Amino acid sequence: MSEDHDLKREIPVLDWDSHLAERTKSMQSSAIRELLKITQDPEVISFAGGLPAPEVFPIQEVDEACSYVLQNMGKKALQYSATEGYYPLKEFLASSMHKYGIPALPENVLLTNGSQQALDLVGRIFIDPGTFVLSGRPTYLGAIQAWGAYQAKFHTMRVDEQGMVVDEIEHAYEKAFNESGKPPAFIYVLPNFHNPAGTTLPLERRIKLAEIATKLDIAVIEDDPYGQLRFEGDHIPPICHLIPERTIYLGTFSKTMAPGLRLGWIVASEALMKKLIQAKQGCDLHTGTFVQYVANDICERGLLKPHIDKIRKVYKKRRDTMLDSLAEFWPEECSWTKPEGGLFLWARVPETIDTDKFLREKALKEKVAYVPGINFYPNADGGHDAMRLNFSYAPPEVIVEGIKRLGLALKKEIAGG
Ligand SMILES: Cc1ncc(COP(=O)(O)O)c(C=O)c1O
Repeated sequence: MSEDHDLKREIPVLDWDSHLAERTKSMQSSAIRELLKITQDPEVISFAGGLPAPEVFPIQEVDEACSYVLQNMGKKALQYSATEGYYPLKEFLASSMHKYGIPALPENVLLTNGSQQALDLVGRIFIDPGTFVLSGRPTYLGAIQAWGAYQAKFHTMRVDEQGMVVDEIEHAYEKAFNESGKPPAFIYVLPNFHNPAGTTLPLERRIKLAEIATKLDIAVIEDDPYGQLRFEGDHIPPICHLIPERTIYLGTFSKTMAPGLRLGWIVASEALMKKLIQAKQGCDLHTGTFVQYVANDICERGLLKPHIDKIRKVYKKRRDTMLDSLAEFWPEECSWTKPEGGLFLWARVPETIDTDKFLREKALKEKVAYVPGINFYPNADGGHDAMRLNFSYAPPEVIVEGIKRLGLALKKEIAGG
């Protein structure tokens, strides 16, 4: 048989499903990833993804940093490196975390491939099949997906205009305990400019949450990718500031530098850090050395802060444009949150409209996309009348057009189709 013939040979089909682990069988691809495929169509105005504005990516800064790193430290930057991360970057992050209100030494910082990997590592070390997680409803879809893979179960607390209703935590804890016979693994909280709700947890609720977590002796996962993107109002101390001993804080460069770098970090106590490092070793040995050197160079040269100031202005304008357009074009039966920062707002429509059906049957025909609310409910028990709208990606004039199209379609639907 010639080699050529061998290469063209068809690969026989195997029933892979019967070979998979039990936990893998229930894995599902994220609705957003699926939706993003549809929105590749350049004619579709997408409010669906959580994409930063590509016009403000720090391309020149990254270009200069790449050249500098390759020319001056290329032999180290292209080599394997420590699982913990590049020490100078850990030092930079520890010091910027201090300014943000989080007591951290470089030893408390672990570099990750974005916060998404941090969520996965948390799942690896805390979740057995059937372990409960306490989260808000709605909550970040990527966390539901990451922990679902470890067969987590969820009990949830409502999210209102001020974020998670922390008074409901104890009840959720009790339910989890009664059902599984053991305490839930942790409370998952999105304190600033919540994805998807756009809400910010006020200081009083953070203090209450810290008290409850201490009373219940439970850990807190504080996921904070948007905290630096505040458009107005004052910085509120993170939960990790209040109870550093029991909080695992997650940060990322995805929204402040660029998501394609895949660079995030975990702040945790040194005792827990050992377990996180062991989990990460089995996963990917370490986060890319080169990308850490490049990010560190940008940070060391003092270019990150002015860049964040720049994107804050751009996103504030886009948020204002979206809020103005909603007020102008949407029916009065609808309502929405008014985020003080971040990338998203949460809109509600009359209960008679199912946002999942409306997306497929109406909005996409008008060439506009959003994420239906149900995707953010871990137990699929709500969000039918809600949607997440992203305001960072589309330029202002496109936002106006997209919100207008959706508004007209909603008015028509309310009037009876
Ligand atoms: C709340 C939240 N956590 C984590 C992530 C993951 O971010 P990344 O892996 O890009 O750092 C995102 C991304 O949108 C997010 O919104």
